[in-house]
Amino acid sequence: MFARGACVNVAAPMVRYSKLAFRELVRHWGADLVYTPMIVADSFVRSQQAQVYEFSTKRSDRPLVVQFAANNAADAEAAAALVAPHADGVDLNCGCPQAWAVRDGCGCALLYQPELLSDMIRRVTQASGLPCSVKVRLHQDLRRSVDLLRTVQAAGARMVTVHGRVLGQSSATPPDLKAMALLREHATVPFVANGDAWSAEDVALIARETGAHGVMAARGLLRNPAMFAGHERTPIPCMVEYTRLALRLGTPWLTLRQHLAFMSEGSERCDRRALLACSSAAGVLDWFEARGVDMKQQTMFR
Ligand SMILES: Cc1cc2nc3c(=O)[nH]c(=O)nc-3n(C[C@H](O)[C@H](O)[C@H](O)COP(=O)(O)O)c2cc1C
Repeated sequence: MFARGACVNVAAPMVRYSKLAFRELVRHWGADLVYTPMIVADSFVRSQQAQVYEFSTKRSDRPLVVQFAANNAADAEAAAALVAPHADGVDLNCGCPQAWAVRDGCGCALLYQPELLSDMIRRVTQASGLPCSVKVRLHQDLRRSVDLLRTVQAAGARMVTVHGRVLGQSSATPPDLKAMALLREHATVPFVANGDAWSAEDVALIARETGAHGVMAARGLLRNPAMFAGHERTPIPCMVEYTRLALRLGTPWLTLRQHLAFMSEGSERCDRRALLACSSAAGVLDWFEARGVDMKQQTMFR
C-alpha cells in the first residue's frame, strides 16, 4: 500500500467511534487503512466478554490495524495473537494522554520506556506474525523523539504514526509540522503524520510539508467521513449509508446518534435539530425519505 507512492489515507483509532460500521463507511469514502479503537490488552486477554464487546469485524473489514494499550509485553503479545487471524497489523498506543493510561504505564507512558516498548514490538511481531506499528506523540525535546524513532525501528516496528503534539498540549494547538518533517527524515519505515487533517486539502498540505507516506485523520473524519474522497461537507448519502450500516451491524442507537450529530455539524442541507430528534435508526431512515432523499440512489432529488 505504501509502496505505490501516493499518500495513504489513514482513518485514526478512536475510542467509542472507529467501530465496525464507521470503518466500513470511511473505507467506502476513501480511507485506505483503518484502525480499530484502542483496546485495553489487559482486560481483552482475560475476559471473553471484553473480546466480544471490544472487537467485532467481518471479512470486508480490511485492511485493518488493531490498536492495543498495554503496559507489558505478555499482554500485548497475547492480545495480538487473539486478533491476528482478522487483522493486517497491530498497533501499540504510545500517545494516549489520559491520566488513567499514563498512571497504568500505557499510552504516553511508553514514550519514556523505549526498552519495554522494543520488547513489546518484538514479541507482538513474533506472536502474531503481523507487522507491528506504534503511534506516538512528540517529546518536548525532539532529540528524544528521534532516539525513540530509531529504537522502535531497530526493534522491528513496520510503521510509525506521529501525532504532532506533545503530552499536555490540547487538540486546539496546531500540530508541529516541522517537527514531523524532521522525524520523517529519520524514518526507514512508512511514516504517518497526524493532526488537524480536516479536509483533502489539509491531507495534501500535511503530506507535502512533512514528506509523510500517509496522513491520519480523526476528528476530521468524525465530522465528515467523506473527507478523504474530497467532499467539503458530509454528503447526505454518506449519512444514509452510515445509518443503514449501523442498523445492519447492530450499532447501539446512542452511538449512531452521536455519529449523526458529528456528521450533521459539517453537513449542508440538513435540519440538524429535526434529525437528532429521531429516536431510532429506522426513524432516521424514514426522516431522510420523507425529506426527499432517494433511498435507492441515495441522492437528494429535491
Ligand atoms: C473521540 C476520539 C477518540 C480517540 N481515541 C483514540 C484511540 O483509541 N487511540 C489513539 O491512539 N488515539 C485516539 N484519539 C486521538 C486521535 O487518534 C488523533 O491522534 C488525534 O485526535 C489527533 O488527530 P486529529 O487532529 O485528526 O483529530 C482519539 C481522538 C478522538 C477525538
